[in-house]
Amino acid sequence: MKALHVICVIVLTLLTTRLFAQQLPVINILDSGHKTSLRGLSVVNNDIVWASGSNGTVARSTDGGKTFTWLTVAGYEKRDFRDVEAFDENTALIMAVDEPGIILKTVDGGKNWQTVFVDSTKGMFMDAMNFAGKTGIVVGDPLQGFAFLAYTKDGGNTWHKLEGKANKVKVDKDEAFFASSGTNVKIVTNGDISTNQVWMVSGGSKARLIKDDTMFGMPMLQGANSQGANSIDVMGNKAVVVGGDFAHDTVTNGNCVLFDISENNIVFTKPQTPPHGYRSCVVFVDRKHLVTCGTSGVDISVDGGNNWLLVTKQSFHVCQKAKRGDAVYLAGGGGRIARLK
Ligand SMILES: *[C@@H]1O[C@H](CO)[C@@H](O)[C@H](O)[C@H]1NC(C)=O
Repeated sequence: MKALHVICVIVLTLLTTRLFAQQLPVINILDSGHKTSLRGLSVVNNDIVWASGSNGTVARSTDGGKTFTWLTVAGYEKRDFRDVEAFDENTALIMAVDEPGIILKTVDGGKNWQTVFVDSTKGMFMDAMNFAGKTGIVVGDPLQGFAFLAYTKDGGNTWHKLEGKANKVKVDKDEAFFASSGTNVKIVTNGDISTNQVWMVSGGSKARLIKDDTMFGMPMLQGANSQGANSIDVMGNKAVVVGGDFAHDTVTNGNCVLFDISENNIVFTKPQTPPHGYRSCVVFVDRKHLVTCGTSGVDISVDGGNNWLLVTKQSFHVCQKAKRGDAVYLAGGGGRIARLK
């Protein structure tokens, strides 16, 4: 009997420890109510965070989200800044979707903005930027069957379009890129900037993974213009892609795949418990912990993306981890900005 008692206590202790270890994080709303849908988010460190969105809006905090400075970029009140890349508390780039394609840069915390890229080509629709140091890429919807691609090597001061033979990303009819969170492209350096790889994900008629110029079909929802892959993140060799169907945002079928970027023949695996609906953004916090969000809620994983736990049904478009730090922020409709605790 005594032995049984001891075993019971041990089992109970183990169970409680496990329960506590799995305690859900809390989503602290830091600000909301501004007339903007935020889809751009860039977290420099635990304290410095920039967000961008529709109605020409940019928000910035330098105190870990306690206070935000909101601004409307003069002359761009009607533009939708779907992505932002911040380098420090003063320096950031913002990218507007639709025509003309525009990227603006500030070096004074958002007081003044310079046009560093403009393209009036008919059909221009830029979706996302990604940076590794000063090297960056911007991806846009296809023009004449090829993804729109431009790169910078000087932190966004000058941009060079990949055209003609330099652009090998040929897409299918009605295959394009989502501009839902500015995260469908990822530069992977593996520590050495000279061996940069560019990974992208597409949606629409096809949901494909694109590595430089090689395309891999993914086992994700695809075939309609609301379906496909929205976001990719990579940590070490591990990669995760999320998406689904934004028109049916509680469908969990085909909304997430995992793979290893070091394999020659990429094998996609589906999570055992997928995120709880369409997700527009995913981010690794570390190799085990991930966060994903979308219009139907936020999920976390504590096992490298194999099982996802719903944290809230509240809508967020984008989540990002501090580039230098561990803070995770989220942003979405109604000017909502939050921090994961
Ligand atoms: C943009 O501003 C207009 C005018 O204030 C407002 O009606 C609209 O809802 C705003 N858009 C968003 C997404 O909040």
